[in-house]
Amino acid sequence: MEQQEQQPKLKEQRAMHHGFDVEAIRKAAARLDDGAVTEGYAADREAVIKMLNDALATELLCVLRYKRHYYTVSGRENASAKAEFLQHAQQEQEHADSIAERIVQLNGEPDFNPATLTARSHAEYDASNDVDAMIRADLIAERVAIESYRQMIDAIGHTDPTTRALLISIMTVEEEHADDMRDLLKKTD
Ligand SMILES: [Fe+2]
Ligand SMILES: [Fe+2]
Repeated sequence: MEQQEQQPKLKEQRAMHHGFDVEAIRKAAARLDDGAVTEGYAADREAVIKMLNDALATELLCVLRYKRHYYTVSGRENASAKAEFLQHAQQEQEHADSIAERIVQLNGEPDFNPATLTARSHAEYDASNDVDAMIRADLIAERVAIESYRQMIDAIGHTDPTTRALLISIMTVEEEHADDMRDLLKKTD
C-alpha cells in the first residue's frame, strides 16, 4: 500500500526533468578537469578568451594612466580631480581582476605581459602635465572602453551569460567614469 502511494510522486519527479538535457547535465558532472566549462557552453571559448584578454590589457593600461594622473596632479584646486583619479584607478584594477578570474574559469590564460600591453589595449596611456589634458585623455579612454564593451556584449549575445553579465557590470562603471570626467571637464573650462 505504501509503495503504491509513492508511485505518483516518482512520476512527478520525472516530469520535472522534462525540458532539461539530463544527458548533458550528467556528462558535465563527470568532466572534472574542465572546471566551470561544461558540455553546453555555447560560445566560441577561444574567441571569448581573446576578447577578455584585450579587455584585461585595456583595464591594466587604464590603471597605469589613472595612477600617473593621480600622483602627478597637484594643487588645492585639483583636489576633486585627484580623488576621482584614485577612485577610478582602483575600480579599473577591480575590473582587471574580475576579467582575469573569468579567463581562468574559461580555462584560458590571462595575459599580463607588459611588453605587449600597449599594443593589445583599446585605450591609450597619457602622461600630460596639465590637468585639463589629463581629464580629456581619461574621457576619451572611457568612451573607447564603453564602445569596446558594447561590441563585446553584442558579439557574445546570449551564448555565455556569465561573461555577458560581467561585461555589462563593468560597462556600467565605465559609463559612470565617463560622466565623472565630463563633469570635471566642465569645472575646469
Ligand atoms: Fe574599467
Ligand atoms: Fe573606467
